[in-house]
Amino acid sequence: MIRSPLMTVMTDAVMKASRSLKRDFGEVENLQVSRKGPGDFVSAADRKAEKILREALEKARPGYGFVMEESGIVEGTDTSHRWHIDPLDGTTNFLHGLPQFAISVGLERDGQIVAGVIYDPAKDELFIAEKGKGAYLNNRRIRVAGRDEMAEAVIACGLPHIGKGDHGLFLRECASVMAHAGGMRRFGAAALDLAYVACGRFDAYWERGLNSWDMAAGILMVREAGGFVADADGVPNPMATGSISCGNEYMHRELLKLLKKAKG
Ligand code: IPD
Ligand code: CA
Repeated sequence: MIRSPLMTVMTDAVMKASRSLKRDFGEVENLQVSRKGPGDFVSAADRKAEKILREALEKARPGYGFVMEESGIVEGTDTSHRWHIDPLDGTTNFLHGLPQFAISVGLERDGQIVAGVIYDPAKDELFIAEKGKGAYLNNRRIRVAGRDEMAEAVIACGLPHIGKGDHGLFLRECASVMAHAGGMRRFGAAALDLAYVACGRFDAYWERGLNSWDMAAGILMVREAGGFVADADGVPNPMATGSISCGNEYMHRELLKLLKKAKG
């Protein structure tokens, strides 16, 4: 597979940052036993990875803006383009030595996500997508799952954190989906949840309370893999509302019905 110059820029930046994250993940295991835990160390790892990404992308595409988890919004001189960057998606997993985390980078052009890269350093899985060119996992084309039986489906979700979101609504949504789905999962890295829908591992996924950097790359990944994406209430632009739902056409429609029932 021949990568476009843009995709080469993005994957090079992500791979560079991943080397730093991977080294630090090795250290985290040693820090679990200390009473303080690896909290500060992980925050530093996160910031380091973001700095590497920002510098590499800035060098290759000067003037583009940034929306970053750690450093916030940086306006660019080129107002058509901005990067949405999550240097470490799945921070809690990383902190606990759980190998389910990723770097996610999406490029927005004139309000549309046109390129996305999600890389899982622990499993060496690179998910890439460009608008109109399909989605790939380690250079092989990926497609959403073809299943059309809820009872056979594995549905992923995100749990609201302590002190955040509507826990009652989540419990109702969970009960509604649980009554019909073959199985449910909460893996803890939104970008990978989306990538897993794109490659057919999960049949559908929903979560509320996300940010643009969690989902920019993943939304494109799912769409380019033939999937359907909306927010958790069925509104077309999840980046604007901060919630998401996706799956193949059938699963997405069924999931939205179950979520709607839970909301009442
Ligand atoms: C989090 C993860 C998690 C999701 C949270 C996100 P972070 O991102 O994607 O799966 O449930 O809402 O904030 O903080 O680990 O980058
Ligand atoms: Ca995240």
